[in-house]
Amino acid sequence: MKTEILKLDEFSCKKASKIINSGGIVAFPTETVYGLGASVFDEKAVKSIYTAKGRPSDNPLIVHVADKEHIEQVAREINNNARMLIDKFMPGPITVVLPKRREIPACVTGGIDTVGVRIPEHEGARMFLKACNVPIPAPSANSSGKPSPTTAKHVFDDLSGKIPLILDGGACAGGVESTVISLCTETPMLLRPGLVTHEMLESVLGHVDIHPAVLENGKVDKAASPGMKYKHYSPKARVLIIDGDISDAEKVYSLCVRMNRNPVVLWNGEEIEKSKMRCEPLMTHHDAAAAAKNLFALLRSADSKGFDTVLISAVDKSGAGLSVMNRMLRAAAFTVLTKDKIVLLNEEELKTVLQISM
Ligand code: TXA
Ligand code: MG
Repeated sequence: MKTEILKLDEFSCKKASKIINSGGIVAFPTETVYGLGASVFDEKAVKSIYTAKGRPSDNPLIVHVADKEHIEQVAREINNNARMLIDKFMPGPITVVLPKRREIPACVTGGIDTVGVRIPEHEGARMFLKACNVPIPAPSANSSGKPSPTTAKHVFDDLSGKIPLILDGGACAGGVESTVISLCTETPMLLRPGLVTHEMLESVLGHVDIHPAVLENGKVDKAASPGMKYKHYSPKARVLIIDGDISDAEKVYSLCVRMNRNPVVLWNGEEIEKSKMRCEPLMTHHDAAAAAKNLFALLRSADSKGFDTVLISAVDKSGAGLSVMNRMLRAAAFTVLTKDKIVLLNEEELKTVLQISM
């Protein structure tokens, strides 16, 4: 199948809606990342999303709607907490998990009884959703396991030949996927941090639990291949998080070079201006929202430039920083080199660190 990229406008949205309403799938931009959508009522089309991405079928999809009135087509019950979040943050980069309506096929939610609902803020996304006139389940439009796509080109790189159409709405402003919060638990539970931050959620709901998997590697079975199960968002290169300052990154960088590796450093812009290392600015002024915007694109470009090791600066976990650390930890298979570890690091040690979870 030939994959067409069309600038998102009324004409291309009309074409996309024809594809969606005749059983096809289409990639489209949102303010977070690009999504890959189908009609919610077309089980065959929904299944073809999983096939195109190579995604495990038990991982539920987020259902996108154009307007607040349409949430009821998807969710069986909208409790008070949900109403408050909808009023305050929708449209926007947030997904609320609610009880699912029976009409929504099981394949959309990986067989579970709840459904994640989201109204994107992106004008183009909403133009597309309105044209389709049906709720659209859509995961991020990447090959499963790869960093999510923040440009139409990223989608093309992963899914060319597997989908008929990509609507091009430019680079995504947010850069990390939406905040996912479950309102089906006794206390609201943050399942995936995003740009609607934990602090913002608590300002509306009071206490919100953070799921332990947000920052921890779950129950690691050391006997099995460690890291593999939890490695997502990962480029081909081995990613190491440096929880220290630029001199710590320099030490790890030199060891990598001595070991004939080809490293790149993703760091706060002001600190790398005079560096002799190969560097890219992850952000400036330690602005975590900028890091969120750049992270996935930088991981992808590390691969296309042939780097085999990415040394990336840890960020503060408050505000948007929580979403950045959550994605980084997965890209790095949870490998964090602290100052203490780096002081003791030698070639032998680093070799072991680099081998784990490759
Ligand atoms: O920003 C986004 O959310 C993007 C754009 C395209 O909207 N979509 C996205 O979808 O990131 P995806 O499929 O890549 O990630 C959806 C996440 C998964 O971690 C999934 O497990 C979780 O949301 N999720 C979806 N429905 C859920 C449910 N009913 N209960 C718990 N988690 C759910
Ligand atoms: Mg995804």
